Amino acid sequence: MTRPRTTVVALAAGLLAAAGAFVVLSPSANAAATLGAAAAEKGRYFGTAVAAYKLSDSVYSGILNREFNSVTPENEMKWDATEPSQNSFSFSSADTIVNRAVANGAKVRGHALAWHSQQPSWAQNMSGTTLRNAMLNHVTRVATYYRGKIDSWDVVNEAFADGSTGARRDSNLQRTGNDWIEAAFRAARAADPAAKLCYNDYNTDGQNAKSNAVYAMVQDFKSRGVPIDCVGFQSHFNAQSPLPSDYQANLQRFANLGVDVQITELDIEGSGTTQANSFASVVRACLAVTRCNGITVWGIRDSDSWRASGTPLLFDGNGNPKAAYNSTLSALGGGTNPSSSPTSSPSTSISPSTSPSNPNPGGSGCTATTSVNAWNGGFVLTVKITAGSARINGWTAGLTLPSGSSVTNTWNATASGTSGAVSFTNVSYNGGVNAGASTEFGFQGTGSAPTTTPTCTSR
Ligand code: XIL
Repeated sequence: MTRPRTTVVALAAGLLAAAGAFVVLSPSANAAATLGAAAAEKGRYFGTAVAAYKLSDSVYSGILNREFNSVTPENEMKWDATEPSQNSFSFSSADTIVNRAVANGAKVRGHALAWHSQQPSWAQNMSGTTLRNAMLNHVTRVATYYRGKIDSWDVVNEAFADGSTGARRDSNLQRTGNDWIEAAFRAARAADPAAKLCYNDYNTDGQNAKSNAVYAMVQDFKSRGVPIDCVGFQSHFNAQSPLPSDYQANLQRFANLGVDVQITELDIEGSGTTQANSFASVVRACLAVTRCNGITVWGIRDSDSWRASGTPLLFDGNGNPKAAYNSTLSALGGGTNPSSSPTSSPSTSISPSTSPSNPNPGGSGCTATTSVNAWNGGFVLTVKITAGSARINGWTAGLTLPSGSSVTNTWNATASGTSGAVSFTNVSYNGGVNAGASTEFGFQGTGSAPTTTPTCTSR
């Protein structure tokens, strides 16, 4: 199409004129200051692996809440964690991560339904049809339990061998028959039709015998209608296994098969500028591939890494952003280097509520809406706070609990009162909400859930 460029310019100018006195902020006038916000402006997520037991560390959870809009439980959804004895499921650690993500509006990558590693000992000792059925039961039960909450599932992890053979990895699951992978994908689709279903692996980041074998499998699945939606590239890099030069081309060839691609466990051993440049290259590759949905780094601080000695992450052991953080944010198109303090608010750099041309400089308050998950004797209420036509810098939601009900546990807000009239005020990291944008908090209670809409007061 050869539409003259001037037409587009004239149209844009007309729209600006029509906007009149209203201030139109372009993204570049107010570049995103966090990884998650910058990725969101590019239509992508930026996530991290999360360990449930670290959430009580305020430096860790401060960075998590500030920077990331997707999470992957690092170990909590694996087979050994979720089904420690056969048909007896244990979701509490994973739930801690998932509930927090849901409250924060973050996506969840489920990891991993079927894998040769981190199996419970009862499964390690199984074989044949017994193991196949146990695996399918596991996939079904876990995907059903989390139905509707998972953006993407790693249905099968690491099923191909390293090296030049292009063969499947030998494992107890592989020995149940070559069709175990497609059987797992079909079971996952039946259990959670809305989740994207991914195949995930390492050493598949460039074109090589292993990635060619995965490519052939995906091509075969697509041609036979086996449900698969995405391929995850773990992207664990170090001197022995560096970022391949054909990384983007490899992502693109998979995308061309009609699946999304995701960078699922990124870490790059090293330091300084070299490490920073590699992270930026990974970001640029993902942004250049339309079907690359997002990037997940495998941990927050270097000290959180499964290979901590290689200092492969974006924050140092004290939680300060490294050069790699800055290069990653800037490659995402973000602009402002945040304070390393999780309590800092970006409000001073955002102008709509103070702009003299804003029609409502005092702010238009906020509204609160709820969703409830109730059971006999208890409930979880998730409350969404949405700013009106101006940015708000703080909020308080108020509601009255039914008689006999009380608040037992609150996240992402500070509760005042536990029964009767109770109120919830923002915590340090979620008071600032841009015009029209939302944040969520939640609380658990005993008794029956309130049915009225909470009031919302802004500051
Ligand atoms: C790792 C975790 O980070 C460690 O805490 C655990 O001890 C072992 O597993 N590929 C994967 C991840 O798919 O699940 C692995 O995570 C890292 C390699």
